[in-house]
Amino acid sequence: MMITMVRWRKILWRAPMLALVLGFMACGKDGAPTPDPDPPGNGGGDDVTAENVTYTNFVGVLLQSKCSMCHAGSGEGTPYWTFSGYNSVKDNIDRINDAVIVRRIMPKTGSLSTRERELLKAWIDKGAPQ
Ligand code: HEC
Repeated sequence: MMITMVRWRKILWRAPMLALVLGFMACGKDGAPTPDPDPPGNGGGDDVTAENVTYTNFVGVLLQSKCSMCHAGSGEGTPYWTFSGYNSVKDNIDRINDAVIVRRIMPKTGSLSTRERELLKAWIDKGAPQ
């Protein structure tokens, strides 16, 4: 009788440990490696391509993070171009193309990565889809 009690205690004590170990194993099994999040301002995920790039999945976020500090509110660039959403970009697409893609004078400080510039160019070439 005494022996049985002791055994049960051992088993009961082990049960949570077992659950813990099984839990870890389960995590390892279906926990696919999380892709590195894009650096801030990169807009969209790694799955944004020249084929599927839109204002919503990439360009809006990019301009918000790389241009709006100077081109919105009381920013120093606001008199020249004011960033206020899709229409403000679409309506000035030729000037933006000229400043960012052709002459590369914008962003005035900071920079765009090669990928950012290529996706922006692809988006403009596609007719700036929303
Ligand atoms: C550090 C502030 C700053 C940042 C960041 C910045 N700009 Fe500018 N931008 C200016 C200023 C100031 C001007 C006025 C012209 C000049 O000083 O070169 C300007 C001018 C412009 C013009 C008008 C050019 C022309 O001659 O018609 C466009 C378009 C423009 N910027 C787009 C952008 C875009 C797009 C971005 C982001 C990719 C950007 N800017 C980032 C400050 C900035």
